[in-house]
Amino acid sequence: MSTSHHNKTKRILSGVKPTGKAHIGNYLGAMRNHVNMQQDHENFIFIADLHSLTTVKNKAELQGLIIDLALDYLALGLDPKKAVFFRQSDIPEHTELTWILNCLTPMPMLENAHAYKDAAAKGNKEINAGTFTYPVLMAVDILIYKPDIVPVGKDQKQHVEIARDLAGKFNRTFGEVFKLPEPYIPKEAAVVIGTDGQKMSKSYGNTIEIFASDKELKKQVMGIITDSTPIEAPKAPDTIYQLYSYFANEQEKADLLEKYQAGGMGYGDAKKQLLEKITETFKPYRQEREKLKNDLKYVMDVLKTGAEKARETASATKAEVWDKTGLSIS
Ligand code: TYM
Repeated sequence: MSTSHHNKTKRILSGVKPTGKAHIGNYLGAMRNHVNMQQDHENFIFIADLHSLTTVKNKAELQGLIIDLALDYLALGLDPKKAVFFRQSDIPEHTELTWILNCLTPMPMLENAHAYKDAAAKGNKEINAGTFTYPVLMAVDILIYKPDIVPVGKDQKQHVEIARDLAGKFNRTFGEVFKLPEPYIPKEAAVVIGTDGQKMSKSYGNTIEIFASDKELKKQVMGIITDSTPIEAPKAPDTIYQLYSYFANEQEKADLLEKYQAGGMGYGDAKKQLLEKITETFKPYRQEREKLKNDLKYVMDVLKTGAEKARETASATKAEVWDKTGLSIS
């Protein structure tokens, strides 16, 4: 591993799946923490492009999504000198070790994993095997780098638990190789809500995108679902207030709450205030992203260098696994 990281004691590892535009749930639940933690942790952050293939079935679309996500992270301040930033598909050890862990994974563990369970509950008969074994690949993504901490939103907690279970199982079966990682789930943004008050998610179509154009952002914020309390009437804290509170300071939150309680302010005005807040929060990142877009060569180079560094660790872990399982004979 590169020596520039030797003084940082804890290692963190996390990833995002390029399947759609990054939204404020991804940002507050995960990406912001990935960037902040680069200061005093040894940081591995990756683009989970193999996971995207469970749903994305189009070459140009996948390529666009990968580049978009790389731009997003770099614009948000992920520093390739501080963090190892790479693409999952550049590291063949992820898929190789997935087979090894597949052979230790009980089917019921995967039948209970929520992504598969939800799809099955909806009566989806076309669920692919990749969706079923998704948590095993994710377990490898994590375990291969032996991180201490995996910063994710609450919806990924079960997957981190599966990774811990499989690590324990491997260690008991073949001998100690893997570390049991801890999830880090931000208290204030464990489940960021979307424009309809449910969990914000690409698959629910209720997102507010962090790099949307002004026009698109306005459409998303103005589309927040509200109740029919009249302008004059006092209002209870709602979805607009909740979204505002993710970005506002204590004073600003208290001010909006006071206006809600006093009555006289319509939801349209509250939405405008939220829109301004979001625009102001992401403005510097959007500007940075515009600049980076003109230098895709730089972006691709960053990922290539990141992959070289990540591979040092991944191949060392693979060698240990090959040794313990009996696949390597010397
Ligand atoms: P993905 O791409 O769906 O989401 C990326 C990160 O964003 C978090 N997140 C949220 N947090 C709070 N509120 C929300 N509404 C919200 N929506 C999304 C997610 O919890 C996640 O942290 N399987 C993973 C990608 C992955 C991964 C890994 C993550 C693959 N391998 C290894 C960590 C470690 C996924 O689909 O996340």
